[in-house]
Amino acid sequence: MDALDALQNRVSIAQLGEPAPDDATIETLLQAAIRAPDHGVLRPWRFIVLRGEDRNRLGDLLVAAKCEREPSLSEEERDKLRAKPLRAPLVLVAVAEVVEGHRVPVLEQIVATGAAVQNIMVAAHALGIGAMWRTGSLASSRTVKQGLGFADKDEIVGFIYLGTPCGSIKMVPADSPANYLRQLP
Ligand SMILES: Cc1cc2nc3c(=O)[nH]c(=O)nc-3n(C[C@H](O)[C@H](O)[C@H](O)COP(=O)(O)O)c2cc1C
Repeated sequence: MDALDALQNRVSIAQLGEPAPDDATIETLLQAAIRAPDHGVLRPWRFIVLRGEDRNRLGDLLVAAKCEREPSLSEEERDKLRAKPLRAPLVLVAVAEVVEGHRVPVLEQIVATGAAVQNIMVAAHALGIGAMWRTGSLASSRTVKQGLGFADKDEIVGFIYLGTPCGSIKMVPADSPANYLRQLP
């Protein structure tokens, strides 16, 4: 697939099954990620690959964080939340490890990490790997960040669900750049 085709036709895939991308494929995706534009060459992106049982560690952290916010969370809701990272055989956590007080604003460090994630999304599509970028309100939780080995200043930019596409792949919705172009006032 050529680059323009991948960029113009990428879609998210919510239904993801086995097999997960193998280590060599993850390496390929990360090679694409680390070519994202990056003001000040700060390389703010960090990645954690969660496959198999490791996904349960994330599930437990999500439950712990949610219970802090809602101590009365029912057992059923806890189980549902705990199972979220199991929606794909592999979850890639993308975190902006922020340098505070740097001339490059924190926003730009987070945007650079977002660009790295988008490179992963497009590269996955080009390789026929299903991918879905998720966050959810718990991505900002200190408990989740610390449980993943980061500080509160850092930002979880995405939980990237990766796997083999299941079922039919959705159509690219019709759209036009004209919808987003504005004229100078
Ligand atoms: C930063 C970010 C966070 C997102 N978080 C979620 C999420 O938590 N849950 C969700 O269903 N979609 C989330 N999305 C949207 C999906 O990844 C996807 O882009 C959307 O379903 C539209 O599908 P498409 O990418 O095929 O156009 C998020 C997207 C971005 C960029």
